[in-house]
Amino acid sequence: MAPRMQKALVLPTKMGLFSLQDVPVYRPGPTDVLVKIESAALNPVEWKIQTMGIYIENYPAILGTDAAGVVEETGENVKTLVKGDRILFQGFFEPAFGTFQQYSLPERLQISPKLSFDQAATLPVAISTAVLGMYNQRPESTSAYLIHPWNEAGHNAYAGKPILIVGGSSSVGQCVIQMAKLSGFSPIITTASLRNTPLLSSLGASHVLDRNLSPAALMSKLGDITGGTAISFVYDAISLPDTQLLAYTALSPGGTLVLTFPKELLAEPEKASDRKTIVEVFGSLYIPPNRDIAVAMCQKLGGWLESGVLKPNRVEVVPGGLAAIPAGLERLKSNGVSATKLIVHPQEFA
Ligand SMILES: NC(=O)c1ccc[n+]([C@@H]2O[C@H](COP(=O)([O-])OP(=O)(O)OC[C@H]3O[C@@H](n4cnc5c(N)ncnc54)[C@H](OP(=O)(O)O)[C@@H]3O)[C@@H](O)[C@H]2O)c1
Repeated sequence: MAPRMQKALVLPTKMGLFSLQDVPVYRPGPTDVLVKIESAALNPVEWKIQTMGIYIENYPAILGTDAAGVVEETGENVKTLVKGDRILFQGFFEPAFGTFQQYSLPERLQISPKLSFDQAATLPVAISTAVLGMYNQRPESTSAYLIHPWNEAGHNAYAGKPILIVGGSSSVGQCVIQMAKLSGFSPIITTASLRNTPLLSSLGASHVLDRNLSPAALMSKLGDITGGTAISFVYDAISLPDTQLLAYTALSPGGTLVLTFPKELLAEPEKASDRKTIVEVFGSLYIPPNRDIAVAMCQKLGGWLESGVLKPNRVEVVPGGLAAIPAGLERLKSNGVSATKLIVHPQEFA
């Protein structure tokens, strides 16, 4: 039986300061699963919510959307999971579903990982954002509508077609590289700090370009690599003004650019004559347009992890439990983390 109270990192007001508080543990309804969170990962969106006041209107809020843990209790109608199952899951921006706490009531879109809890917690948001932005087929979704690689027809569907992934060493970027490999894209070109070249090559990147080169130098290198072949799909995993402009410029007319942050930041207005489609992915498995593909992806995830098609991020465990999250978010904000996911252990305060 779970305890009645737990520790949670609460954001009391919009753009307020995080505070560690005692809050009640949620009681699972008939179809719910209560999870004891062993590992929770930090994401850039959390410092953005706190400093920009975006995405959440109801406060107090409990943030955090990446976690792994153990099933603690199940509702009477839950047939697929039992107490003690190890799972990873994506949280959502509502208190019962947040992961910056010791217990959460996630939607059951989880898989059972053989990874460590820390490795498993690096994946839910990153792989979802990659897959949803590339392959969601629902017309009302924000996606490039690529053929998904679940089956033979989709596997290698893009053989011989170049792809540019801006920010390949980010968590999202690492997953996009791995999905691009599954889809057969070639060459797979990415930008990152060059110290991350061995890692990104091991994930499937064929060319890693120094992200500190000037836009003109990057464009020139892209031309050399592709030999002038059109780049009709670009995924900007960073989506800052300068990366958006690079991604948009590199994209060929008629192509599709996926952004992970709003395109209002695009430094130059889009030109209709370019016929370039820009989509802003929302990497949540919880919203209706993403549900079908979420289920399909979760069915595949276990196999991908088992076979090594999908590898988790490198992990740095930040000591101090939930209380260490604000300082960890500061590190993300100041670009102090490279090709690594910061993880906390919420039970450290138990
Ligand atoms: N729309 C959504 O649903 C959604 C979901 C998840 C994330 N996001 C957004 O997507 C972005 C990435 O998130 P994340 O969690 O993947 O980030 P992350 O792992 O924290 O990103 C860190 C990495 O970003 C790279 N980087 C920073 N600036 C760069 C630049 N100008 N060019 C190329 N690489 C750069 C760094 O590369 P080096 O160390 O190699 O220099 C570093 O490895 C964030 O803006 C986040 O808010 C959106």
